[in-house]
Amino acid sequence: MFSLENKTAVITGGGSGIGQAIAKLFAAQGAVVHVIELYKASADATLAAITAAGGRGTAHECDVSKQEQVVATFAGILSPDILVNCAGIAHVGKADTTSEEDFQRVMDVNVRGTYNCVFAAIPLFREKETGVILNLASIAALVGIPDRFAYSVSKGAIYAMTLSVAKDYMAENIRCNSISPARVHTPFVDGFIAKNYPGRETEMFEKLSKSQPIGRMGTTDEVAALALYLCSDEASFITGNDYPIDGGFVKLNN
Ligand SMILES: NC(=O)c1ccc[n+]([C@@H]2O[C@H](COP(=O)([O-])OP(=O)(O)OC[C@H]3O[C@@H](n4cnc5c(N)ncnc54)[C@H](O)[C@@H]3O)[C@@H](O)[C@H]2O)c1
Repeated sequence: MFSLENKTAVITGGGSGIGQAIAKLFAAQGAVVHVIELYKASADATLAAITAAGGRGTAHECDVSKQEQVVATFAGILSPDILVNCAGIAHVGKADTTSEEDFQRVMDVNVRGTYNCVFAAIPLFREKETGVILNLASIAALVGIPDRFAYSVSKGAIYAMTLSVAKDYMAENIRCNSISPARVHTPFVDGFIAKNYPGRETEMFEKLSKSQPIGRMGTTDEVAALALYLCSDEASFITGNDYPIDGGFVKLNN
C-alpha cells in the first residue's frame, strides 16, 4: 500500500519543513521527486538527502509567485502525476497593522504561487488523463487565529481554490484536496518566533505548543504521512476535501 513507484511528484517549498519531509517520504515510496524552491541550496540539500537514501529526483530554483518561472520549470518536468503546493510564507499582524506591501507579498507567494503551479500542472495532467493536487491550507483557513490576518486570508483562499479545482477537473480524473495543519515544528515556526518575539523564544514556543489540545506541535513526518495517503492511489475516492491535522485544535479547543 501507498507505493508511489512509477509516479513523478512535484513538491513546492520542498527545501524545508513540511515540503522537505513530503519530498523525502515520496522518494522513499518510489516517486521521482522534483523539488521546487526559491533557494537552490535548500532544494539541493533535500535532493542530496533523497539520493543518499537511494531515491531519485531533481532540484529546481523557481519563485512560485512568478508565472513565467513556474511555467518554464514545469516545461522541464516530464509527465508529473502529483503536485504538492507547500511553498508558503507567514506574517504576523491584524488588518490595521498589516501594510499593503506585506499583504501583497503573502498573497503573491501563498495564493498566486499555488494558482501558478496548478495553472502549469493541469495541461500536463490532462495529457496523462490523471493527476493529484494537494494544497497546504492551515487551520487559519477554518477558525480565527489571532494576529494572523494576511496569512489567514491567504489560507482561506487556498481552501476555496481546492474546492474550485476539485470541481472543475473531476471529469478529467484530477483529484484536489488540502491539508490544514495546526502548529507544526519547522523552520517556518522558529523563524517567525525569532523575528516577532525576540528574547521570548522559549516562552512563545511553549505557548504555541500548548495551543494544541494534545499539548505539543505536530511533526513534519506526521503531515507527510497524511500527504502520502492523499496522493496515493489508495485515496482515489477522495477529492474536494480539507483534512485538518491539528492535535484537536479545531474541534476540541474550548
Ligand atoms: N509549520 C506550520 O506550523 C504550518 C501550519 C499550517 C500550515 N503550514 C503551511 O505549510 C507550508 C509549509 O510550511 P513549513 O512550516 O514547512 O515552512 P518552511 O518555511 O519550513 O518551508 C517553506 C518553504 O517554501 C519556500 N518558499 C517560500 N517562498 C517561496 C517562493 N516564492 N517560491 C518557491 N519556494 C518558496 C521556502 O524557501 C521554504 O523552503 C506553508 O504553506 C505553510 O503555510 C505550516
